[in-house]
Amino acid sequence: MTALLKLENVNAFYGSAHILHNLSLTVNPGERVALIGRNGVGKTTVVNTILGLAALKGGRIHLGDYALQKPRPYIAAQQGVVVVPQGRRIVANLTVEENLILGAAVGRKGHWNVPEVYKLFPILQERAHTPGTALSGGQQQMLAVGRALMANPALILLDEPTEGLAPVIVDLLARIFQQVAAQGTALLLIEQNMSLVVRVAERYCAMAKGAVVAHGPVENTRESLLNLETHVMV
Ligand SMILES: Nc1ncnc2c1ncn2[C@@H]1O[C@H](COP(=O)(O)OP(=O)(O)OP(=O)(O)O)[C@@H](O)[C@H]1O
Ligand SMILES: [Mg+2]
Repeated sequence: MTALLKLENVNAFYGSAHILHNLSLTVNPGERVALIGRNGVGKTTVVNTILGLAALKGGRIHLGDYALQKPRPYIAAQQGVVVVPQGRRIVANLTVEENLILGAAVGRKGHWNVPEVYKLFPILQERAHTPGTALSGGQQQMLAVGRALMANPALILLDEPTEGLAPVIVDLLARIFQQVAAQGTALLLIEQNMSLVVRVAERYCAMAKGAVVAHGPVENTRESLLNLETHVMV
């Protein structure tokens, strides 16, 4: 089985700042993997390196069979790896529906289109013609997830999707992620909310200082939750 995403001994930099140190990480088709670790360990830099927003200097990245020599933002989406960025990045002067349509620009065929996203998030249909940034934080996160689905990805990288959201919205998103995964889309969930991790992920990789330092299975148990929390305690 070819992995959807494979990073091997990746080193990445912002200018002269060396952030990722021989980082290795794999996500297989249909898997739900959590990438955890405290603030500043380099979780977003993993995403940024795949997108070409941090400089890859050493190591290998594969997106399926595709060897990513020169990362660029659009290449990952073309290869079926789509990012829901930290902070959501909803386009301010576009409506909800226009933001969704933007997600389809990559032109991959599949289950997801505007009506299917509206079935998943009925509130987005109600607000279809509202500016995207006029939505609440939780609704903007739904829009960011919907926009990612519009690309019909094989793998979604979710960068702290529940940051700053109320527990009731986190619960709703947990159910959505389970539903999306059940339809066969793999997830890499970057997250510091371990109660979400135990509900969504089957496996975790824990980062410290720009490298993966621990990994293992995730179970929806108190022991698993406590084990995971040791990796993100400040
Ligand atoms: N554009 C940048 N230029 C230089 N350094 C950066 C840049 N972005 C992040 N860094 C630094 O790189 C390191 C890793 O940051 P990164 O954003 O990947 O961490 P993170 O694990 O995603 O943290 P958080 O949980 O707070 O989102 C930090 O020390 C940060 O200060
Ligand atoms: Mg981050």
